[in-house]
Amino acid sequence: MNQPILFDVYPDLSGKIPFIGPLARKTAVKKLQKMESYLGIDELWVKCDNDTNDFYGSNKPRKLEFLLADVLASGKSTIVTIGGIGSNHHLSLAIFCQEKCNGVQDFTPVFLTFNQPVTESVRKKLLIFYNCGVKHLGGDMVHAGNLIMTAGHFYGIQRLKRPSKDTYYMYAGGSDKIGSLGYVCAALELKQQVDAGEMPEPDFIFVTVGSAGTMAGLELGCKLAGLKTEVVGVRVTPSYSFLGGFFSAARAVRGLAKTTYKYLRKLSPSIPKVKFESPTTVLHEFFGKKYGLETPECRKAIDLFMENENVLLDPTYTGKTAAAMIDFINNNSVKDKCILLWNTYNSKDTSRYLDPSVKYTDLPKKYHKFFET
Ligand SMILES: Cc1ncc(COP(=O)(O)O)c(C=O)c1O
Repeated sequence: MNQPILFDVYPDLSGKIPFIGPLARKTAVKKLQKMESYLGIDELWVKCDNDTNDFYGSNKPRKLEFLLADVLASGKSTIVTIGGIGSNHHLSLAIFCQEKCNGVQDFTPVFLTFNQPVTESVRKKLLIFYNCGVKHLGGDMVHAGNLIMTAGHFYGIQRLKRPSKDTYYMYAGGSDKIGSLGYVCAALELKQQVDAGEMPEPDFIFVTVGSAGTMAGLELGCKLAGLKTEVVGVRVTPSYSFLGGFFSAARAVRGLAKTTYKYLRKLSPSIPKVKFESPTTVLHEFFGKKYGLETPECRKAIDLFMENENVLLDPTYTGKTAAAMIDFINNNSVKDKCILLWNTYNSKDTSRYLDPSVKYTDLPKKYHKFFET
């Protein structure tokens, strides 16, 4: 497969959307028999996007295969982007730029970061951002404090320093109409798997909502594919309701799904008409106290999936989504339904991107406190 499934289904899109080669492979769907017995449900499945790529799995390769092609097509080489100090988006960008995947040469990432609870995993990621992004690729990392201040850097300070005519500004989580195409493709891939009899058509998909691109792409992709599936999002980042629900709210998902749809329709008359009638469902009550902070239900879900199915979930994203799904199964009449958990958590070991000679004191000073307290 050298071209995305989007171009197989809608051949006239080929050449109209930049694409330089696949980063994400087709992922398996697996029946979770032990969890089915545990929860008393007929059909429980997982989509293994943990395994999208050998360097780094998760939802990121699907987005980045379009985004990095877009960067290349723009003729720019510096990429400024925004995420938490433990951002998986930053991590994947650092890794794919370092690996020079897809024939991409010499991209220079600049990571803007905001606070989140510090864990060993966060520290490891910071060291990798530095090692791959700064030491090897000559990029930078800038810690601004909270999300609002970091957004100020993204939309203000950085643009004064690095004008957007030379610099590619990539949205948090790669969630714009280009990044979301990766999950339109993912839904088309699922439809092929259903048609091939690899799994029944799901009644519900449970997916994590952070910056919204994954769910937006899935929601649109399911409609385009003609799947009857309802996509249920689980919010794991703050909602910032005073910003009009910009992050993770159903509005953000729906807005991005529509923007992506309009973009595709403009490019290709073969994109079918779809309706956005039923409301987008995003569940909020599994977020807990903070972004990145585990909840007891999330820990229980992580342990259950590991013990029963050897499926690795994480405390920031997919564990909370699995907790929401378990609660949904326990409290609704859905025992005869088919439910699919979309596992977006990377399962590849990233330790090889650490360099023992890199110490936290090599990082810009503002990051030292995350290692000292
Ligand atoms: C493991 C994982 N799952 C899900 C998400 C959420 O995806 P999105 O930001 O597209 O909503 C993220 C976002 O960073 C993530 O890292």
